[in-house]
This record gives sequence, C-alpha cells and structure tokens, in this order.
Amino acid sequence: MKVTDITLIGAMLGIAQASPVATLADITDVNILNYALTLEHLEATFYEEGLNNYTREDFVKAGFKDPFYANLQEVASDEKTHVAFLTQALSDLP
Ligand SMILES: *[C@@H]1O[C@H](CO)[C@@H](O)[C@H](O)[C@H]1NC(C)=O
Repeated sequence: MKVTDITLIGAMLGIAQASPVATLADITDVNILNYALTLEHLEATFYEEGLNNYTREDFVKAGFKDPFYANLQEVASDEKTHVAFLTQALSDLP
C-alpha cells in the first residue's frame, strides 16, 4: 500500500483532517464571557416569558404554593442582573 493510498483512505474515513476546531490557547476571556452572556440571555428570556405567560394564580392552581411565584420573579430579576453585569464586563474590557 502506498502513502497516497493511506492518505486517501484516511480522507474517506474523515480522519485526514481530524484536528480540533479550537485549542485551549485559542479560548479567550472574551469567549468565556460571551458564552456566559449567551446562557444568561437564555435564562432571562425563559423566566420573562414564563412570567408573562402565567399568572401567580395559574401557579397556585397548578399546585405551587406561595411564595413560589414571588421566588420566580426574584430569579427573573437576578437573571436580568447577570445579563447587565456580563454586558458591562464585556464593554469594560480594554
Ligand atoms: C410563552 O408563550 C409563548 C407564546 O405561546 C411561547 O412561544 C413560549 O415558549 C412560552 N414561554 C414559556 C417560558 O412558557
């Protein structure tokens, strides 16, 4: 078997270009903060939508006793704070 045959077989198996997309050295603080910000946006949106979609009475009828709804409102507020904090941290970077 020739080297070119081995290369061709490797290419067919998808291992000829098997290298990581990013190495640890490529990951920056900005990448990490942006990833965290994306997750916080998802969480903030989830809680905001949930609170817009359902009332306190809906939760009580579903068996969630007080202060469950108030706790969700607090979590929603915390998630918005996390979004604001990370957005500010990213804009403060040199
Ligand atoms: C809120 O309601 C909208 C419209 O029906 C829906 O698309 C969304 O998934 C709901 N979100 C939550 C968290 O209940």
